[in-house]
Amino acid sequence: MNGDFTLYTPTKVVFGHDVETRAGAMVKAFGGKKVLIHYGGKSAVKSGLLKRVQDSLTAEEIDYVSLGGVVPNPRLSKVYEGVKMCKAYGVDFILAVGGGSVIDSAKAIAYALAEPEKDVRDLYEHTRVPKACFPLGVVLTLAASGSEMSDSSVISYEDKKRGVNSDLCRPKFALMDPALTKTLPAYQTAAGCSDILMHTMERYFVNGHRMEITDAIAEGLLRTVMQYAAVLRDDPENYDARAEIMWAGSLSHNGLTGCGNDAGDWACHRLEHELGAQYDVTHGAGLTAVWPSWAKYVMKNCLPRFVRFAKNVMQVEPGETDEETALKGIDAMAAFFREEFKLLAKNCAIAVGGKVGSAMPLHEADMEAIYRIAAE
Ligand code: NZQ
Ligand code: ZN
Repeated sequence: MNGDFTLYTPTKVVFGHDVETRAGAMVKAFGGKKVLIHYGGKSAVKSGLLKRVQDSLTAEEIDYVSLGGVVPNPRLSKVYEGVKMCKAYGVDFILAVGGGSVIDSAKAIAYALAEPEKDVRDLYEHTRVPKACFPLGVVLTLAASGSEMSDSSVISYEDKKRGVNSDLCRPKFALMDPALTKTLPAYQTAAGCSDILMHTMERYFVNGHRMEITDAIAEGLLRTVMQYAAVLRDDPENYDARAEIMWAGSLSHNGLTGCGNDAGDWACHRLEHELGAQYDVTHGAGLTAVWPSWAKYVMKNCLPRFVRFAKNVMQVEPGETDEETALKGIDAMAAFFREEFKLLAKNCAIAVGGKVGSAMPLHEADMEAIYRIAAE
């Protein structure tokens, strides 16, 4: 019925300075005795985080094995590797140390271990639904996916990128130290902020029933993320800004901003997942490329929501018609997203040593212009 909803957020959140050192105590509290510590490429090793987490398990006399190598858009092959390792070692708890890709890979392993005679790939193919999942915890290093509290796991294989949604995989706990996100490249911070915005916007742009309280939470969250994303562009070391963004990331995707509005829209995420599968693009960046065209395409069908968004979130001066106001809101959000292209161009310029191209040598400003045109 209109406005009915279920909100289930069982994850224990421990937020603040140095909380990662409590990993061992948390695993113990949730009954873990043999742990798989799952992580990504090199960031957690380089920063010393992995060692700190391992030490905290050792301090609680908890056995563990570690498996790194999870890549962005995490692969099923790594999941199988993890499952084999866990079975050999008798793992009973998974600890993800990383961003969304690591957490989603950990969730897939946890599903596989709980139904060991079945192929976990079936879940992503949607040929069966999960019946059980091993417990997992998270030490979060990137505010973006919201996977630390979400019911979702997204895995890539062959040319597909597919998600499974079930409350069974919601993490038992999430340790969130905003300071851990200071080592992120500016581009990943920005892409993360875009993903956070999108998780609430996907729930916001719906026809049908809405609740005022949910709209107010959503609009406040969107304004806050834009405010502190801008702060971080100039001041990436700012702990308080990191904290605002990190908590917004969890609230944006744990279900709170969707209460009372059915299931949300999710078209942009579906469109982006195909880009991720085909071109391995960064999820948040893919979303920013899709949203402005999506918004202009669907605007007339959902006009009151776009007008409200323009006024309450983007805070534009109303135009002469509702359509004009809605378009002003879309353009303002597109302009915010385009700030990311500066960071993309900067990264690209560094990667190529300043200049690339033969048809026309491109410098940073050219690269930015090309990214902008692609998103217009
Ligand atoms: O592998 P390392 O070296 O750690 O580098 C990672 C990776 O290259 C780096 N990174 C992470 N934390 C860092 C850091 N670098 C320096 N310092 C740190 N503290 O960041 C890069 C990207 O990491 P990734 O985990 O891929 O990013 P994100 O958290 O944005 O996750 C993206 C994945 O989550 C999925 C996306 O589709 C994508 O596959 N999503 C999952 C959702 C869910 N489970 O609820 C919902 C989302 O909509 C999304 O679809
Ligand atoms: Zn997302």
